[in-house]
Amino acid sequence: MAKSKTSYVCQNCGAVAPRWAGKCDSCNAWNSLVAEVAESGPPKSLGATKTRGAVLELAGLQSQGSKDIARATTGIGEFDRVTGGGLVAGCAILLGGDPGIGKSTLLLQVVCALAQKNMRCVYISCEEALYQVLLRAQRLDLASAPVALASATNVRDILSTIDQNPCDVLIIDSIQTMYADTVDSAPGTVTQVRTAAQELIRACKKSGTALFLVGHVTKDGQIAGPRVLEHMVDTVLYFEGDRGHQFRILRTVKNRFGPTDEIGVFEMGAMGLSPVANPSALFLSERNAHVTGSAVFAGLEGTRPLLVEVQALVAPAPYGAPRRAVVGWDTNRLAMILAVLESRCGLQFSGSEVYLNMAGGLKITEPAADLAVAAALISALTNKPVPHDMVFFGEVGLSGEVRPVAQPDARVKEAGKLGFAACALAATSKVTRHDSVDFHKLDHVDSLIEILRNGGVAQPPIAKAGKLA
Ligand code: TYD
Ligand code: MG
Repeated sequence: MAKSKTSYVCQNCGAVAPRWAGKCDSCNAWNSLVAEVAESGPPKSLGATKTRGAVLELAGLQSQGSKDIARATTGIGEFDRVTGGGLVAGCAILLGGDPGIGKSTLLLQVVCALAQKNMRCVYISCEEALYQVLLRAQRLDLASAPVALASATNVRDILSTIDQNPCDVLIIDSIQTMYADTVDSAPGTVTQVRTAAQELIRACKKSGTALFLVGHVTKDGQIAGPRVLEHMVDTVLYFEGDRGHQFRILRTVKNRFGPTDEIGVFEMGAMGLSPVANPSALFLSERNAHVTGSAVFAGLEGTRPLLVEVQALVAPAPYGAPRRAVVGWDTNRLAMILAVLESRCGLQFSGSEVYLNMAGGLKITEPAADLAVAAALISALTNKPVPHDMVFFGEVGLSGEVRPVAQPDARVKEAGKLGFAACALAATSKVTRHDSVDFHKLDHVDSLIEILRNGGVAQPPIAKAGKLA
């Protein structure tokens, strides 16, 4: 007979402690331990029973490999790119994002697109009433799509329904509101979320149903509750963006069936989310090219080149320690670039406040943005605009040297496509000639000062890439 035992589970990291404590030993979060009752007792299989298990049917890898793995595409290009070229039968996808960012809207559009392609789709909404989902579908002009809707929170009910009405795609919005009656904890606790997800994933893998789980995100940007959820699923997608902007970025963090770090760009409008085929043009659309402190970074998100405007502002500090504020980039990295510009190029930022912004609400993590940031900072400090038709990419080291970064060709090609005529990059970059883009190959970050002073003409005069490379 199984005994019930109270243990304390950290709602932040999922660690289990025998006693309550103010602080979790494992992740150091305060006040995160919550009592959860778990059935304990001898495991039902293996040790407890002495009988042998069933003999598994073993199949050869080659015979499996010869099967063509079908992928279901939605026809929403930006979404299909992020999933690695469509959904695989039996895959479990976790979609995380801040509240109100558009997760439900995205999945409703995806599920309707799949339903139009004759896939049997079930959308279980636990957070919204059915008429609210219907209202949204009507607003998005999707009400005619043959999607089965239900509002439920009990995993057992959902699984029996799916058992009787098999489907190809199942959407659970959201996993935090799911309740598995096999465990006693309250909905939303780590044990509940984990158990509910486990049961749903197991059932969907067995039946070959593609499963989407919506997960909320905590203040520090992780999917709420246990990170363990990320280990259980095949693909983790984050839907991010600034609610003040209309752009939304769908990012792959983990993908067992495709590349990671891939992004899809959407625009939220009155008719829901629309895919943005040319995000660089969108991110640069508001740019005023002749303003000081603005430089264009030729970035790379996954396999996709993306041009982003980096904006810097240097203002006199009225009192005390000057402020340094960053939106969309790493604060430590800004401090490093400022230190390099001060000690290696003799520029003075110490008495000024410095603000840095990646326009459009994009978050950049690549060190390749260093050169563009340095250009924007120098431009803001010296009050000289950066040449309007120039893009920048390159990592800046502590001695001020400019280092090459991955895939320069893809970046240059994107810049050329958008009408940029010049590109500043590391001298050691292995880049092939481009017809319409001139290269400014830089050894040291202080060459930027010269480029700005000469309005885009570096000394010695600009050399075509073909001659330099
Ligand atoms: P929602 O999908 O409900 O977000 P989540 O499920 O991530 O919490 O999105 C809600 C937001 O999207 C809300 O602020 C309104 C906005 N929105 C639009 O701007 N246009 C639309 O067509 C729709 C459906 C929503
Ligand atoms: Mg929602």
